[in-house]
Amino acid sequence: MMQRRKFLTLSSIAALYLLNACGGGRNSSSSNISNLTVNKKSLPIPELLRPTTRNGVQHYDLTIQKGKHNFFLDIQTDTYAINSTYLGPTLLMQNGENVSINYTNTLTETITMHGHGMHVPPSMDGSAHQPIAVGQTWSSQYTVKQRACTNWYHPHTLHKTAPQVYQGLAGLVIIEDDESKGLDLPKRYGIDDIPLVLQDRIFSNGQLQYNPSTMEVMRGYIGDISIANGAIEPILDVEAKEIRFRILNGSNSSVYTLGFSDGRNFKQIATDNSFLESPIEMTRLTLSPAERAEIVVDFSTLLGGKVTFRDFKNDKTFITININEPATQRTSLPNRLTTLEKLDATQAVRTRPFILTGRMGSFEINGKSMDINRIDENVPLGDVEIWEISNNMMVDHNFHIHATHFMILERNGSPNNVAANEKGYKDVVYIPANESVKFIVKMIDYTDNAVPYMYHCHFLEHEDAGMMGQFIVT
Ligand code: C2O
Ligand code: CU
Ligand code: CU
Repeated sequence: MMQRRKFLTLSSIAALYLLNACGGGRNSSSSNISNLTVNKKSLPIPELLRPTTRNGVQHYDLTIQKGKHNFFLDIQTDTYAINSTYLGPTLLMQNGENVSINYTNTLTETITMHGHGMHVPPSMDGSAHQPIAVGQTWSSQYTVKQRACTNWYHPHTLHKTAPQVYQGLAGLVIIEDDESKGLDLPKRYGIDDIPLVLQDRIFSNGQLQYNPSTMEVMRGYIGDISIANGAIEPILDVEAKEIRFRILNGSNSSVYTLGFSDGRNFKQIATDNSFLESPIEMTRLTLSPAERAEIVVDFSTLLGGKVTFRDFKNDKTFITININEPATQRTSLPNRLTTLEKLDATQAVRTRPFILTGRMGSFEINGKSMDINRIDENVPLGDVEIWEISNNMMVDHNFHIHATHFMILERNGSPNNVAANEKGYKDVVYIPANESVKFIVKMIDYTDNAVPYMYHCHFLEHEDAGMMGQFIVT
């Protein structure tokens, strides 16, 4: 379905040359765990953290801490975590509420904590501009003003995001609104509404190993051990009914092509920041780093059966699903989920180009590597804009913006290349090697002349190596 326009640019030829030239060095890391026993267990379900109310504000108290986690039976793995030993709780928020997420840093290094996908003022964004020093608490306070969706939170420390996420710092945010509560969807958290943070890691003697070579910075640091919610190939027991998965590609730089081992159909119901207008039937779902998708799969006729949920791109199993309990409650997926507001491209005031280039060890957007003291773009409030992102490299990238969502207009110059399951609100878009994407966006509030938002590739090795820029809303 997707037409791939292949062309070589000078920078991509240079990148290809360098990729080959590096072949003599360490190519890709792999785990050394043959002497260890994987801790085979049930899929861990992150705690659903309901807030405590103080003075009309919903407070979420999060402690960023060092942990020891049982990936293996024989050895404790040193980790970073939030209120746990790996990853963090799922924050449940209601649209319209005043919230305060209170992050306390008990680590021995500075961090930041960013609400990915959250529509918040730049000073509350938790980007590289809101560092949390050792021993300090920082509160991200705002009114939730966006549609029901699945977002997440993670560090955004300048040049250190990748290793900090790798150690285990990430968690989900579920936003509910009147619409999501009214739909007949699976909503029992951990029973038929299953959070799924998918990652891959490299272990050395049972410890997380983050040590990318120059080559691995270029391609992205890809692990050979798949983990789901912090467990290696865990088992999930479910009822024979419709099951909803809220999936986050929480990896540093891996693209996953997900699906079930028996090839069964499922329906995607949501993208990063909204429901899709109607469920989209599919058998494979591609997610690049930081993208989310909600899917519903019907196991009603499979009582007593078993399937695995896999990444077909890298040939890895994430979870084994046993359909071993009769349904205690039925749901029936509606044909219509929502109506999305669509911006009109003929109203666009300007097109902003963003060209992704790089060479070994350094990545740029529009020829510039990230500088925290430089504002790259001024975006006027209320203007409809088209952003055109061109990946001029032989390696894959994606593109994420803070502040608000966008909608994809074109891939490689044509609206026909935009897949039906990408037509919801998005905040990350996958851009394979030598491809381009156009999206439409409008800043709707939160002007600030001093504090910028960021845009960047969400392959964390690329982000840390400079493929990031900053914009202010004026
Ligand atoms: Cu997921 Cu700039 O972040
Ligand atoms: Cu973000
Ligand atoms: Cu990238």
